Amino acid sequence: MRSSLLFISTLFFLSCQESKQKEALKEATFVEVAPIIYKNCTPCHRAGESGPIEFTSYEAIKKNANKIKFVTQTRYMPPWPADASYTHFINERALTKEEIDLIKTWVDKGAPKGDESKIISLPQFYTGSFLGKPDTVIRYLKPVPIKGNGADHFYIVKLPMQLAKDTFVRYFEFVPNHRKLAHHINGHLISYETGKKKDIVTGITHALDDFSDYKELFTQMNILNDDGTFPVLNPNTVYFLPGYSPVNYPDGIGGYKTNKTSLVLLKNIHYGPSNIDVLDSSYINVFYGPKPKRPIIETQLGTFGISKIEPELILLPNKIQTFHTQAALPIDISLLSVNPHLHLLGKSFLAFAIQQNGDTIPLIKINKWDFRWQYYYTYEHPIIIKAGTVIHAYATFDNTDKNPFNPNHPPKVVTQGEGVRSMQTTEEMFQFIFSYLPYQPRDEKMDLNKK
Ligand code: HEC
Repeated sequence: MRSSLLFISTLFFLSCQESKQKEALKEATFVEVAPIIYKNCTPCHRAGESGPIEFTSYEAIKKNANKIKFVTQTRYMPPWPADASYTHFINERALTKEEIDLIKTWVDKGAPKGDESKIISLPQFYTGSFLGKPDTVIRYLKPVPIKGNGADHFYIVKLPMQLAKDTFVRYFEFVPNHRKLAHHINGHLISYETGKKKDIVTGITHALDDFSDYKELFTQMNILNDDGTFPVLNPNTVYFLPGYSPVNYPDGIGGYKTNKTSLVLLKNIHYGPSNIDVLDSSYINVFYGPKPKRPIIETQLGTFGISKIEPELILLPNKIQTFHTQAALPIDISLLSVNPHLHLLGKSFLAFAIQQNGDTIPLIKINKWDFRWQYYYTYEHPIIIKAGTVIHAYATFDNTDKNPFNPNHPPKVVTQGEGVRSMQTTEEMFQFIFSYLPYQPRDEKMDLNKK
């Protein structure tokens, strides 16, 4: 009885949805199109963000109607490399077939405006942030000059926070001022223990390209504790990859404790090659939050990670090759987010877990790798994975001339290289990074989409 009622109400719901969609398609004015564009396109296509055209008014959107039709028909935009038929994530940027059809019909009809009074207003966006107005912004003390000599650059920058009081930070959002060059940024938070550090401002503020002795460098940057010992570096606090935006976890999940003597150390900044000199004065938006209850743990398989890549990551010229890496979990975890990371030769990516009873848990599938879009994909609810389960990741690389992103013509042997400099754009990496909490009962019910 109950199931047939559910069945009838589901049918009713579906037919309501369907007739709504039919109606939208019949009208096909900006009244119906605006919500789709404002939700899926405008977050990137507005002042200060990565999209080259601004979609913030009817006029601007109408002017680009044909381009919009083209990029949605071809599914080039919005960029969302993960296969939505394999696993779902929050903030999934993928249009439904109905939405794509609606845009096409609208454009074919000449992009009519419709009843102006019914057009939704532009959502509130905050310039310089994906997440809204930050509580405070921390900046480089001095801009970093980057040579346009066609080479990759690696550098390290210290940003004293200079807060008025001890507090908690929900997240740090790195905002590059040269988006096209910013390739990979990884930063640590240092909150000095009481009495361990008097002055966090003096010392050199950055070091570019040529450093290897961290003790020496940290001394010059005045980062060591006053007694000469190393402070605790809280890793992966600030993160950036092309297309990345920070994940907004529910209250108490993740977050950091900061105090008056805290600083952010952008330890690995990697800017891709450029032919013009630039001054880098990127900044970090800081959002305060409640006291952290459960710290997030991050682990990675593959390059620099806990598991070996097999066979060894050597990409032969004119070959398409697949590599594998795997690791067994020692404890029960609640998996929150995953982040596959490859460079320009990436072609596809697949990760799943095999439980001890033989069942497979799908994690992520990327059919067409695109270096420009490397998100932290967050599940709607944590995925519970039991101890003993083996996580598998497979990456396929295309080192042929057919790969339009191949930096080498003719193709040459490409490897991981060594040390910091191994991360050159033209070298490769195969990483499967994932964030999790040690499992607690009821984690499966946690709604990661709820702020
Ligand atoms: C995650 C950020 C992001 C989202 C979301 C996004 N775009 Fe883009 N878009 C970009 C970037 C960056 C480029 C430039 C690089 C490129 O062409 O790949 C671009 C390029 C374009 C272009 C080509 C511009 C040109 O001058 O040729 C069009 C048209 C476009 N986007 C439309 C859309 C539409 C329509 C949507 C929503 C359905 C959308 N974009 C969603 C970031 C985004």
